[in-house]
Amino acid sequence: MSTTTELQQTINDMVDDTRGVLAIDESSPTIAKRFAAIDVESTEENRRHYRSVLLSTPDLGKYISGVILFEETLGQKNNEGMSLAELAWQQAIVPGIKVDKGKGPLPSAPGDSITYGLDGLAERLEGYKAQGARFAKWREVYAITDTNPSCLGLHANAEMLARYAAVCQAAGIVPIVEPEVLMDGNHDIDRCAEVTEHVLHSVFHALHKHHVSLEHMVLKPNMIVPGIDLRTADPEEVASETLKVLRRTVPAAVPSINFLSGGQGPEEATRNLNAINRSAGNAPWQLSISYGRALQQPALHAWLGKAENDAVTQQALLNRAKLNSLARQGKYESE
Ligand code: 13P
Repeated sequence: MSTTTELQQTINDMVDDTRGVLAIDESSPTIAKRFAAIDVESTEENRRHYRSVLLSTPDLGKYISGVILFEETLGQKNNEGMSLAELAWQQAIVPGIKVDKGKGPLPSAPGDSITYGLDGLAERLEGYKAQGARFAKWREVYAITDTNPSCLGLHANAEMLARYAAVCQAAGIVPIVEPEVLMDGNHDIDRCAEVTEHVLHSVFHALHKHHVSLEHMVLKPNMIVPGIDLRTADPEEVASETLKVLRRTVPAAVPSINFLSGGQGPEEATRNLNAINRSAGNAPWQLSISYGRALQQPALHAWLGKAENDAVTQQALLNRAKLNSLARQGKYESE
């Protein structure tokens, strides 16, 4: 199979007009934080158990078309000895892998950060592919202050995303390109819109320079929301600001935009997605999810680290996935 055929097949399997992507790719420190909140120790066995419970949720494949895994999870098996990637694909959920290696400060750009992990990426992708991964995810993070992101920050982060995406496509792996403008701070919604427009503009400019095929990638952006210390926007305002920025920056060739939740609560993230889809009219892209926290939070709180809660954990995940499936069709009613 040619690389282009392979990429297109993965897009066909991941992108449709009712489903979305589940992100369970928390790094070891992040999952330890999530588990600590429910008083559970982050051992390899607990992580394996929790994630295999999520992926064996009956009917999950009706609402979820892809799952982003952490490297450790890709090598793990369920109690019956099936790999978790295979378990996902049994329900037509395409397995993917987070390939960045976290972030640190960007030299000469105080307040901006940069993500690591390009060295050896092509070789790592071959290994992940052999384990069943068909798409990848890389996240660059942009904090908003009066002076951030800087010009250097915008440029350097966009280059990283584009180089990552080009390496993925050469390997036949669909890249999820995630430039996340953080919600932290007390900036208003206009400032979020202004920064996100700069970010997306720079990212698509870099993708073009690196000859990334827009038809064979997925964009994972933030919605346009005010800083977490303000939080006054209603879903209609979030929808109109988000669509305005996306229409200005994202080429129609991109098949799907799958939002991150970024600290929005589960109901809030569903309401906002619903409003976006209701206002989207004839938008050229699918408008879906790649939520981590907003999909998992109710499940995690139902689980509490106890095997006797496995079934209610799955019920909580399925319920959130179903509501988001309605929302990505603009058919969600909060009551
Ligand atoms: P959140 O939806 O929790 O922001 O997670 C998104 C993410 O990047 C995980 O892949």
